[in-house]
Amino acid sequence: MTDKKTNRSSDRAGEPGSFHSFLDRRGFVKNGMAVGAGLALTSKSAIAQAESSEKVLKVALVGCGLQGQALMDSARTDESLKGTYQMVAVCDIWKTNLIRMSRTLQAYKLGPATPYEDIEEMLQKEEIDALMVATPDWMHAPHTIIGLEAGKAVYCEKMMSNTIAAAASMVKAQEKTGGVLQIGHQRRSNPRYLHARNKIVFGDKLLGRVTHAYGQWNRAVSDPYGWPKGSELSPAELSKWGYDSMESFRNWRWYKKYGGGPISDLGAHQIDLFNWMFDAMPTRVVAAGGVDYYKEFEHEDNVMAIYEYDVDGATSRGYYQVLTTTSSQGFYEKFMGVNGTLSISESDAVNQVYREARAPSWDSYAAKGLIVKDATKETIYHKFWEQPKKWPGPHLPSRWLAGKATADVRETKGLDPWDLPITLDVRPHAPHVKAFFQAVRKNDPAAVNCTVQSAFATCVTVLSAIKAIKNGGTYTFKPGEFTA
Ligand SMILES: NC(=O)c1ccc[n+]([C@@H]2O[C@H](COP(=O)([O-])OP(=O)(O)OC[C@H]3O[C@@H](n4cnc5c(N)ncnc54)[C@H](O)[C@@H]3O)[C@@H](O)[C@H]2O)c1
Repeated sequence: MTDKKTNRSSDRAGEPGSFHSFLDRRGFVKNGMAVGAGLALTSKSAIAQAESSEKVLKVALVGCGLQGQALMDSARTDESLKGTYQMVAVCDIWKTNLIRMSRTLQAYKLGPATPYEDIEEMLQKEEIDALMVATPDWMHAPHTIIGLEAGKAVYCEKMMSNTIAAAASMVKAQEKTGGVLQIGHQRRSNPRYLHARNKIVFGDKLLGRVTHAYGQWNRAVSDPYGWPKGSELSPAELSKWGYDSMESFRNWRWYKKYGGGPISDLGAHQIDLFNWMFDAMPTRVVAAGGVDYYKEFEHEDNVMAIYEYDVDGATSRGYYQVLTTTSSQGFYEKFMGVNGTLSISESDAVNQVYREARAPSWDSYAAKGLIVKDATKETIYHKFWEQPKKWPGPHLPSRWLAGKATADVRETKGLDPWDLPITLDVRPHAPHVKAFFQAVRKNDPAAVNCTVQSAFATCVTVLSAIKAIKNGGTYTFKPGEFTA
């Protein structure tokens, strides 16, 4: 099946007008890997010409699908960003999404955003400071590199790419141009996660030595994406942009040519956190998975992977699972230390810490506002995976959490830096978008919250789970592998 599907990705390199000839002209080869610079470097980045920090940023969106919409909604609903940016252009090869996005922006008075099908034409015609790239993974390298080389700052969605080579080309392009490039691992800007990492895990070391991490993203069976009748790209258009069929264009995540499958799509968020929270790179990964349910697709529909880390001379392990045939317990992460465990998620139902009975008192942490000790009055939290016998139903009454060994971590106004209500006046991507805009204003590549170098290390970490599966279940990382 895989071969059949891969063969369908017939390489039309060199055909005039084909997408591969576009990529070839630009110095890209198939699978989105850049092998050389195409555009001449602009001598000064557009951002460097910003007259003052008050300047309204001119932003363009490339890729107007679900995540393009989420990024726009994130920026739009963050009051603090109001008036700081303007959407000048949108780009998408599919008119259905392109026109919808252009109209939506107009309706919210964030435009007028001129619609383009071709990113190069857009870059030639528009004055743009920053690109937000939310195209399928295989287009991240071409779109990011074209943007950087045109002197634009780029926010590029995760996963950086579906191949390590293409991801490396993005690192090289950033290093060569010195442009501002942030990768969309948005948890790294989320106040909840920053609090967890900087205060609970590292700062005050509430959990003690963190011996294990856990992450999961479980989803129920779902139908493949379709498309409105009559909205199909023509065979010539599909071929021009490198897609084999309307079906693979819509369900790109499942095909090797375009995406990395669930472990990449969803693991990108959470395995990234293992590296971030352990502040280390793994030494080995043991993994199993397969194409066991969605036989029509190419990528593993379930993966279970254990990453081993050497943290200050001792081994810690992170276990990750992505299952696409059950929604059991949804998506969240846990960091388990000898003194306590933190469970955390972008979803606000699953955020708490609990203290081991033998651990030193946490009263001083509560006094400092690091944790909220008493959860009797307000929010409800799930804790059933810790004490299943006491779980009375899908939503726990908060008094159940008021046991001695329990403290909840939640966003409580007045607790610095825990004062962003994540239930959400702003959406989970908003802090990351804001961090990017700030870095653009400063024209400072180091000011982003997820550099391309650290995202590259994540890309290597995540995609190596597949290497392990192919390799009989285990893959040992090589020295230097996490650097492009
Ligand atoms: N950070 C997050 O939480 C998060 C969540 C979902 C998706 N994502 C990422 O965002 C990206 C987009 O995912 P999505 O769910 O929006 O997919 P999608 O299929 O809904 O949207 C992709 C859009 O890109 C367009 N497109 C495809 N090729 C193009 C090209 N060559 N030029 C211009 N436009 C092109 C498509 O027409 C479509 O409108 C992926 O990289 C995905 O991993 C991130």
